[in-house]
This record gives sequence, C-alpha cells and structure tokens, in this order.
Amino acid sequence: MRGKSKNNAVIPGPRRARPRNDGNKNRSHADSGDARALAAEVLAAVVRGTSLREALQPAQEKLRDPRDRAFATALASEGARWWLRYDKALDTLLQQPLRKREPVLHALLVLGLVQLEILQIPPHAAVAATVEATRALGRGGFARLVNAVLRRWLRERAALNARLDSQPETRAAHPRWLIDTLTRDWPKRADAILAADNAPAPPMLRVNARRATREAVTDELAHAGTTATPHPFLRDALTLAAHTDIARLPGFVAGHFSVQDGAAQIAADLLDLRDGLRVLDACAAPGGKACHMLERADVRGLALERDAARAASIGQNLRRLGLSCKVRTGDAGDPTSWWDGQTFDRILLDAPCSATGVIRRHPDIKLHRRAGDIAKLAHEQSRLLTALWPLLAPGGRLVYATCSVLREENERVVAAFLAAHADASTQAITLPAGRAAGAGWQILPGEGGLDGMYYAVLAKD
Ligand SMILES: C[S@@+](CC[C@H](N)C(=O)[O-])C[C@H]1O[C@@H](n2cnc3c(N)ncnc32)[C@H](O)[C@@H]1O
Repeated sequence: MRGKSKNNAVIPGPRRARPRNDGNKNRSHADSGDARALAAEVLAAVVRGTSLREALQPAQEKLRDPRDRAFATALASEGARWWLRYDKALDTLLQQPLRKREPVLHALLVLGLVQLEILQIPPHAAVAATVEATRALGRGGFARLVNAVLRRWLRERAALNARLDSQPETRAAHPRWLIDTLTRDWPKRADAILAADNAPAPPMLRVNARRATREAVTDELAHAGTTATPHPFLRDALTLAAHTDIARLPGFVAGHFSVQDGAAQIAADLLDLRDGLRVLDACAAPGGKACHMLERADVRGLALERDAARAASIGQNLRRLGLSCKVRTGDAGDPTSWWDGQTFDRILLDAPCSATGVIRRHPDIKLHRRAGDIAKLAHEQSRLLTALWPLLAPGGRLVYATCSVLREENERVVAAFLAAHADASTQAITLPAGRAAGAGWQILPGEGGLDGMYYAVLAKD
C-alpha cells in the first residue's frame, strides 16, 4: 500500500537494504565499547537537538575498532533517518511510553527496529545484540522488555508495517510540514525527493587540480582497495563505491582531494573564474567552495564567515590543500564592518538555508528543521543578497546558491531581488541534471547522483 499525503502524493516507504554485517560481532564490549549502546546515546542526543555530526564525535572516540565506528555511524544515521517511523511504532509496542523517562532506551528500541527493517540484520543477531546493549547502557533491568518488544515486532511486523505505511509521515519518515511543502513545490517529484532523502548517499570527492589529477587519485585509491568513479559531467568529481574513513585514505593528508558532493562543485564552474579576479565567498565555512575556486584559478580570494569557530576550519582546509586567501570573520549582511571598499569581480553567496537538499547525507535535518524556519531563512537570504550586491563590480557576476529544494528560499528570493534591482539580470544555466527553476537552476537530491542544490547566476550591468 502507498500512503497519500494531504496533497495526494504517493509517498515511498522504506526500501529494504541488503543484509549487512553487524559490526561488533565476535568482539567483546570491553574491547571496543558497545556500538549499539553508543549509537542509542547518539540518537537520543540528536532527538534532543544536537546535530548528528556533533553527537557522533565523542561516541566515535570510544570505539577503537574501525568496523565498530562504521557500524555505530550507520546505525545512528539510519536511526535519525527513520526516527519518525519507528518512534511511532513504539507507541503500539510499549504499554508505557519510555520516550521521556528513558530516552536512551527508547532510542535503542528504535535502533532495534532499524536493524531489523532497514539494515536487514538477521533477527537473532539484532535482538540478542540489542538486549546486550541494554546491559551495556546500565539498564539491564529492561533487558526482558527490550527482548519482548523486538520479538513482538517480528511476530506482528506485517500488520505493524502496514499501519505505519498508511500515514504519510510514518510511511516516508518525514515531518508532515515538509511532505506538504515538497508536494506543493514539486507535485510530480515529491515522491522521488522523499525516496532520495531516505537513501544514504555514496561519498564524493573533489580532486585538487593543483596537486593531482582525477586519474592519479583514482589509481592511488585503487591501490588502497577503494573504488572511485569519475563523475560523468563534473570534471573534478569522483564518487566512491562505499563509505570509508576518508581522512585515512592515501593522498588526503597531502591535499590531493577533499570530501565534497558534486552539486557543490558546480559553483566553481558557474563563477567563470580567471586568474587575477577579485572573488568574495561571503558565507565560506568550512571552505569547500572557496578552496575549489582557488584550486581552479589564481584568484584574489576573500573568504568571509560569521562564525569564528567555523572560520578556523577554512584555514585548516587551505593549509592541507596548499592554497591561500584572506579569511575574515564578519556578517555578510553588514559589509561596513569588514569591506575595504574595493569591488569584487565575482561573489559567491552560498546562503544559510534549510538544507532540505542534503537530507540524504544529514538525515537529522528531518528532526531539527521546523516549518517556521523557512520564512526566516528566506528573509535572511534576501538580506544577504541585497547587502552584497553593491560590492559587485559592473560586469561582474554573483552566484546565489543554496542546498535547499524549497521554492521559497530559491527562485522566490531571486525573483524578488530581480524585481527590486534594475541593474541585475540572470544568466541561463544548463546542466545535464536538474531543471530551470525561475531565474535559476534546481537539482533535486539524487539527480545526476548529486545532492539537491539551487543556483542562480546574477550579472551586473
Ligand atoms: C551553506 S554554509 C557554507 C558552505 C561553504 N560555502 C562551503 O562550500 O564549504 C553557510 C555558511 O554561512 C555562514 N553564515 C551564516 N550567516 C552568515 C552571515 N550573515 N555572514 C557570513 N556567514 C554567514 C554559516 O555559519 C555557514 O558556515
């Protein structure tokens, strides 16, 4: 059965993954920590509002075995991705809710269901190890309950899954406001967006053209047992066959490549860079796009970032990649505090946004983003665009970018800006993936193997 949203879109439910290794099999918890227990702590922290990335860091440090780290990461990520489905399932499976009283145990139960339904871990292994994790969490008194809940799920899974599939929110494991907005913005494509959000994305790299070639990096990785495939239309991009600890791959420390989705790599193409141009990256941290520009041409770059801690990460990336540009901390919407008065030939505004295009890589966005955020973000995007426009030299171009798939943050922001600025025009974008959207171009998640991303190129008379 396929669920119907308010707007009658058919919503895709969970896709069954191939059976996978369960990580810490045959190794003692004392040796390695309990990957499931740690993943439950991570997931409970994410539900409380911590970002998945932040919550994973301390947990990773407690796991010595790289397979345990990989398993805990996959489990916590899938837990966040499928929370809205399996959290709801526990309403039926538990007589007394644990959500508030025992949030970590509640998260562990969700992860038990995720192991069974999404990771396709054999039931006996998933149940036994989840019961064991209950003890590792110091909650041994709940071991029987955890065992009973997971076994009941296994007995009744067909009926319980059918019930979850009957509601859009639990079928697609997305918040209702987002399903409705996607259905309104992309009536024919909402299903595909929801499905793409629920499919973990393969890692992508950007090769540093100053230090390596795509062929050399592919060979270097192949020697280390990692398969990398050149992206069909992005000249610096490689897609890896599987997730791996990228910082440990040969060539990473030497700056031969960086982790960056291909959609983000399009910015450098759209900026039409040439040696000597003065270029501003107005929202730069952690510096992915700024570094790509510097890899492409000898531009005179300024990387601006409001958050001082995040600005520091730009410096780290510049050093590893052997690049240099000015880095400043400041508000892009208030140039008087940081601008020296010299215009820029190119400006990239990679604006803060809902990140609804990158849910496949950051599933916690489903839990943290609220409907009310979107109008505030659109207001901020307009503020930044308006403030930066006077800094662009006549004949220059400004690339507006977001990793959002929502029209309110993308084409509507650009349309309002164009209506208010007679000296601004748009330059057409044509790419092998995505479609024209207002004055810009929208890639939806999964299209061309890429994250969701919006671009508009604004030229100044
Ligand atoms: C989408 S991320 C940028 C990603 C970056 N361009 C890259 O490719 O690595 C947006 C960044 O803008 C920063 N930011 C948000 N509001 C800002 C403002 N008013 N001025 C400058 N930076 C801002 C955020 O802290 C965040 O680091």
